[in-house]
Amino acid sequence: MRILMVCLGNICRSPLAEGIMQRKIQENNLDWVVDSAGTIGYHTDAQPDERSVHIAKKHGIDISAQRGRKFNYGDFELFDLILVMDSMNYQDILIQAISEEEKSKVQLIMNFVSPGRNIAVPDPYFGCDDGFEKVYEMLDQACDRVIEKNGETIKN
Ligand code: 4NP
Repeated sequence: MRILMVCLGNICRSPLAEGIMQRKIQENNLDWVVDSAGTIGYHTDAQPDERSVHIAKKHGIDISAQRGRKFNYGDFELFDLILVMDSMNYQDILIQAISEEEKSKVQLIMNFVSPGRNIAVPDPYFGCDDGFEKVYEMLDQACDRVIEKNGETIKN
C-alpha cells in the first residue's frame, strides 16, 4: 500500500499524518510507503511548522527531516490511497483526477473513523497550540483504522 497524506500547506496536518503513519508502518512490520504533499506550493522545501514538530516529538516521532512539496498529477500513479484532511483538499485534488480509478483513490481521512460523515481534520495553522494536540489525536486514530482496514492482506 502506498499512501499520500494531503493538506493545504504540507507543513501542519499532513506532515504529522505522515510521521504517525510511518511509525505505525514500522510497528506493524508493513511493507507500505507513506509520503505527504500540499495542494499549494507555498511551503515547498520548508520544514514542517514548529508546532507540528513539537507535538510529534512529544509523542516520540521526529518529523523534522520532512520537506514541503506540492501535489502533482503524477501522484495519482505513485499512490494507491490519497488521504485528504478536509473538503477543500478533497475538491482541489479531485478536480485534477481524470479517471474513475484516480477519483476513487481520494478519500477524507476521517471517513476511516466515521464512515460517510465527512468530518474534517481542522486546519490548526492560524489557531492556538491546543489545535495541534487535537489534530494529532484525530490522525492517530485515523491511521489505526486505515491499517485495520487495509493491513491484513499486506502484512509481511
Ligand atoms: P496545513 O496548514 O494545510 O495543515 O499544512 C496550513 C499551512 C499553511 C497555510 C495554510 C494552512 N498557509 O496559508 O500558508
